[in-house]
Amino acid sequence: MDFDENTEKIIDEDIQGKALDIVNDNANTRKLYIESYGCAMNFSDSEIVASILAKEGFNTTQELSEADLVLVNTCSIREKAELTVRKRLEKFNKVKRTNPKMKVGVLGCMAERLKEKFLEEEKIVDMVVGPDAYKDLPNLIQEVDAGRDAVNVILSKDETYGDIAPVRLQTNGVTAFVSITRGCDNMCTFCVVPFTRGRERSRNPQSIIDEVNDLWNKGFKEITLLGQNVDSYLWYGGGLKKDYDKASDIQKASAVDFAKLLELTALAQPKMRIRFSTSNPQDMTLDVVKVVAKFENICNYIHLPVQSGSNRILKAMNRLHTREEYFELIDNIRKIIPDCAISQDMITGFPTETEDDHKDTLSLMEYVKYDYGFMFAYSERPGTLAARKLEDDVPIDVKKRRLAEVIEVQRKSSLYRTQQHVGKTQEILIEGTSKKSDAHWMGRNSQNTVAVFPKENYMVGDFVNVKINDCTSATLLGEAVGYSKNN
Ligand code: SAH
Ligand code: F3S
Repeated sequence: MDFDENTEKIIDEDIQGKALDIVNDNANTRKLYIESYGCAMNFSDSEIVASILAKEGFNTTQELSEADLVLVNTCSIREKAELTVRKRLEKFNKVKRTNPKMKVGVLGCMAERLKEKFLEEEKIVDMVVGPDAYKDLPNLIQEVDAGRDAVNVILSKDETYGDIAPVRLQTNGVTAFVSITRGCDNMCTFCVVPFTRGRERSRNPQSIIDEVNDLWNKGFKEITLLGQNVDSYLWYGGGLKKDYDKASDIQKASAVDFAKLLELTALAQPKMRIRFSTSNPQDMTLDVVKVVAKFENICNYIHLPVQSGSNRILKAMNRLHTREEYFELIDNIRKIIPDCAISQDMITGFPTETEDDHKDTLSLMEYVKYDYGFMFAYSERPGTLAARKLEDDVPIDVKKRRLAEVIEVQRKSSLYRTQQHVGKTQEILIEGTSKKSDAHWMGRNSQNTVAVFPKENYMVGDFVNVKINDCTSATLLGEAVGYSKNN
């Protein structure tokens, strides 16, 4: 039997739409169908949106044909992500013929990027709402109910939705996302996120801890602290990260950075597994690495996108570190957390990338031997610095061939990494039934590697010691030998 649970990690597109369903309050009468694309932040935002709309009389449904309101939370990161959404809108258009009461709203990054233009380009769309405007949804829906189009794409200096308790949608009841920062100030030249999600701001640590405590009380066992750039987290009483210099001495003295936040979270719930994503190498401090090493409940896993192994391309991408500095960080992580898993994001065919630059990427990957990665062919995004200043001059077949080579190196190092687990007994948190076999559980070890093993009498949410007997490049195969001490 083929047990590869998550081969989708090693592909060039991560754009998946998922319909979400669970809100069901008997007092509610209207039906909301909500679908999310792109990054974890979008899925997390949809839970905030569902929470806001539950108070407005909406239950969620998975049936498009009965929906009063259809929301699609969109992604702009690559052109293909936008094309996927446009295709879905065509489908909604067809459904509307049999369900004329249905209204359609677009949320997220595409809404922010296209603004009012969306209404002109896609006749089916009634409402366009940017990532910082979800609290305005009740007003916008009133407008739509009155027969008018509605748009709010205002980006905020301080909106973090910290005061909203997300409704957990399509949850396994075990793992959850907790957002901690919004926006990004890094301005990588290929990336649309700083334009669609605005300036960087951090959420009040107390509201983060409250959410984590609440999740623990509801039975969750693992959380992922989420942000475009989590290592840049900085709470000094509110406001933009870039305005920190103007903060008072008192504010600065009591400021909480990411290392401190991780520590506070680990201490608040010592049995909760803690993960975080995403780390930009230029913002990651050794303090963070040391906190990961210090607390057993912080998982030994760091997602550390590098995008390219060539110093010249890193500079053109405005990634503010060199290849050598990246190696130094990797060496330090391996020294401080010897069994730490590391994963990457990589882009092939950035403008001006030569064969030598590409070879630098391959050799960097050989050095790090990542546990896994997310790899993409460069896609020019309108409005970014790269789009404005650099010609998209690497032919698509060259981009794709380089991508295939990058994926092949990754496949080999993924296999090398999973093989290192074989013969060991590891703590696995059970998340659900294996996709490939009803008789097996699927869970993850601290390094975030998927493991499958026969169910026996164990249950979802149990921490189990599993003896790893075999592996593929993406999945560990084993057998349970008892509950772990954390259970
Ligand atoms: N900090 C973010 C990363 C942004 S997008 C996070 O939290 O995940 C995720 C990945 O998409 C990037 O790391 C990059 O590898 C890829 N990406 C971003 N813009 C891209 C583009 N224009 N073309 C191809 N890949 C891109
Ligand atoms: Fe994008 Fe770079 Fe920020 S990849 S999200 S601008 S760290």
